[in-house]
Amino acid sequence: MSTEQHTTEVIGIVGTGLMGRGIAQIAAQGGIEVILYDIRPGGAEEARAAVVSTFEMLASKGKLTSERAEAAAARLSVAVELTELKSCSIVVEAVVEKLEVKGELFRQLEAVVSEQCILATNTSSLSVTAIAAKCARPARVAGFHFFSPVPLMKVVEVIAGPLTQQVVVDRLIGIANRMGHTPVRASDTPGFIVNHAGRGYVTEALRLLGESIAPHAEIDRILRLGAGFRMGPFELLDLTGLDVSQPAMEAIYEQFYQEPRFRPSPIARQRLAAGLLGRKTQRGFYRYENGQKEETSTPAVPPREDFPVWLDAGQSRENPAVAELLKKLGASLDNGERPGDTSLCLVLPIGRDVTTCAAAADLDPTRTVGLDPLFLTGCRTLMTNPLTSNKYRDAAHALLASDSVPVAVIHDSAGFVSQRVIATIVNIGCDIAQQGIATPEDIDRSVTLGLGYPFGPLAMGDRLGAQLVLRILDEMHDFYGDPRYRPSPWLKRRALLDVSLLTPDN
Ligand SMILES: NC(=O)c1ccc[n+]([C@@H]2O[C@H](COP(=O)([O-])OP(=O)(O)OC[C@H]3O[C@@H](n4cnc5c(N)ncnc54)[C@H](O)[C@@H]3O)[C@@H](O)[C@H]2O)c1
Repeated sequence: MSTEQHTTEVIGIVGTGLMGRGIAQIAAQGGIEVILYDIRPGGAEEARAAVVSTFEMLASKGKLTSERAEAAAARLSVAVELTELKSCSIVVEAVVEKLEVKGELFRQLEAVVSEQCILATNTSSLSVTAIAAKCARPARVAGFHFFSPVPLMKVVEVIAGPLTQQVVVDRLIGIANRMGHTPVRASDTPGFIVNHAGRGYVTEALRLLGESIAPHAEIDRILRLGAGFRMGPFELLDLTGLDVSQPAMEAIYEQFYQEPRFRPSPIARQRLAAGLLGRKTQRGFYRYENGQKEETSTPAVPPREDFPVWLDAGQSRENPAVAELLKKLGASLDNGERPGDTSLCLVLPIGRDVTTCAAAADLDPTRTVGLDPLFLTGCRTLMTNPLTSNKYRDAAHALLASDSVPVAVIHDSAGFVSQRVIATIVNIGCDIAQQGIATPEDIDRSVTLGLGYPFGPLAMGDRLGAQLVLRILDEMHDFYGDPRYRPSPWLKRRALLDVSLLTPDN
């Protein structure tokens, strides 16, 4: 099989539901001839008409010239029988997510198409290798994994199994580029890149909820306003629906032989059993009315009551931004070596909880409050230990909110909310790199495009610094004793060498 032979591609799309239609649209817009086939009689014609009306709509909105819309529509044709896909140089299947159905379809297609024809699967959760194993020529089979809605999610994972020929991957990359999508290469592993990297965000948020650290709406607020995620993890779970997310979380966990980093949450399983699926049932973590999310109230800022604020000298030096902020907020600083009798003891934990910090420095726990020193702008997080008095908690809240920056007050957690969630995302991203599933650049590219995170996991780690992320994970691992927090060797080595997490192995 060679690349030169296929400058004129004809793409067959089998399964013309949500995904098949999207793939057909971008292929036809990219100048590729498309033949649609669906097992449901009339299904392919319906899909063709729907895609044509999308082109007309795009033309009416001025997003496509009418000539281009007409030319794209003319590239779509319909096959009534599978045998009519004979002329295809590539067939992409987007049928039901069942191994037997996809395997049988490829087996049948092999009897129809030429030896050079690529067979590509849009599966999200099945093994590309297992599908290829049903074929006489597994070398021509690859994954071509798009995201929904296909025309807007401009990334596609090109997945190679152990037997997939390199030329097949190269041709799919060329086709993806013609479709106006960004291709990323991945090896055939559970979740590929994006669904694998996406495990950290919601599983760690569910873990925080499971530890009663904060209500779901507060966790969402901290991650949206403080850490810059477009959507909170519980808003995301409600959007996707627990009927989709929970099986996906369980599948990845099992497929990686119960890897603790992906351990699902009993909270999500219970809520799924209760039918609290999310937006689609009007009730998930939030309630919805006519598609609108309920308003959730944020805790009121208490009246300001000033106590001298004592900050350990070492922590103050390590976090000059905190000392500056306190001055700006008009705090009266207690500069003593030890805190005065009434001083508020502010600690700045990295990967630790307040209890551990108070005990280590022999501070009065009733007057000790933690502030997350890494996220001070969009939303500040304060953390109490089990003995912190309400008076000192409220004083810290009022002081930190006095310039109108939102403040969240949470229960004790090794690594607050944002440190924990970000360190988890970075660690999983590092391990994807360590396993050689994709290049560091492709990991970050696919995650920003596929999940809409502000940065890819490796760049996110670089922004905090590899050494700081390693310190957060080491502390969390030490405190919880849970192997889910063990740092990836990729992260450890780059932190020790003090280089970017995007640095590949030589
Ligand atoms: N929906 C998503 O967000 C998403 C994202 C990425 C990948 N995927 C994958 O894409 C595939 C399709 O998903 P979808 O959401 O478009 O499903 P869908 O139900 O909207 O469409 C599936 C289509 O396949 C047809 N079909 C079923 N069996 C067939 C067969 N043997 N031969 C021909 N046609 C057949 C059905 O009639 C239907 O039109 C699945 O493998 C899914 O995992 C879906």
